[in-house]
Amino acid sequence: MRKLEETKRLKSSEDKQVSSEVFDDKTLKVLYKLAKQGYINTLNGVISTGKEANVFYGYDDDMMPVAVKIYRVVTLDFKKIKEYIAGDPRFKTHGNKTRQIINTWTNKEFKNLSRLYNLGLRVPEPYTSLENVLIMEYLDKSEDDHSAAPPLNKVKLKDPKIVFDEIINFIDKCYNEADLVHGDLSQYNILLSHNHPYVIDLSQATLRSNPSSRMLLERDIKNIIYDAKKYKLNLSYDDILNRVLNG
Ligand SMILES: Nc1ncnc2c1ncn2[C@@H]1O[C@H](COP(=O)(O)OP(=O)(O)OP(=O)(O)O)[C@@H](O)[C@H]1O
Ligand SMILES: [Mg+2]
Repeated sequence: MRKLEETKRLKSSEDKQVSSEVFDDKTLKVLYKLAKQGYINTLNGVISTGKEANVFYGYDDDMMPVAVKIYRVVTLDFKKIKEYIAGDPRFKTHGNKTRQIINTWTNKEFKNLSRLYNLGLRVPEPYTSLENVLIMEYLDKSEDDHSAAPPLNKVKLKDPKIVFDEIINFIDKCYNEADLVHGDLSQYNILLSHNHPYVIDLSQATLRSNPSSRMLLERDIKNIIYDAKKYKLNLSYDDILNRVLNG
């Protein structure tokens, strides 16, 4: 993790060495490309490291803060496996395919975010995506605290009723205006920024026409009702589901 924190100024050559210890070659190339295009000027540190992706914060060429989500292409284990199978032509297409799937996944998140953002829903504004890297608006905590907005599971809401109303409103608009179901909605994928809930992590979001969208919608609603219980809010599953379906 120390190495990540030291990763700075993508454009200068001496830093290239540091970042190459952290990112795989292809990801590094993508990052340089994005730096050249002005989307990333500096990468300052890590917000979150997960199984699927790492999220960093930095600045673009206009010194506007950005969040940079980098989908993992190789896990350490996979890297090790690759060393063993390097040079075996049978595995070549497999490697490319994995990348292709991840790139498609990244692009899908970008498209879903764009759709929702353009409808005025509270999601980070997506700036661009290239291969396994997505660049979006950095959500901060508040006017006077510019640290990263915390997920709902890490905060104690002052006015939970209002926040959960806004979340239900999001589910409704997402379904009825954007034609989308999030599919992994819960307090872990909602950030509290300036006292409003912002929904993130949209790569798996699906169209209503997807046969599993109804099941995913029901699960999203159940998760939110569960999360609201911590504030002794008893939301009605039937009311919410009917409101969304009849929206
Ligand atoms: N735009 C953003 N601004 C500020 N912080 C963000 C932003 N996007 C993501 N984060 C932070 O990064 C974390 C992980 O983001 P996200 O949920 O999109 O990734 P993920 O796919 O869940 O990754 P994994 O499951 O591997 O952790 C979030 O919980 C949040 O803390
Ligand atoms: Mg997540």
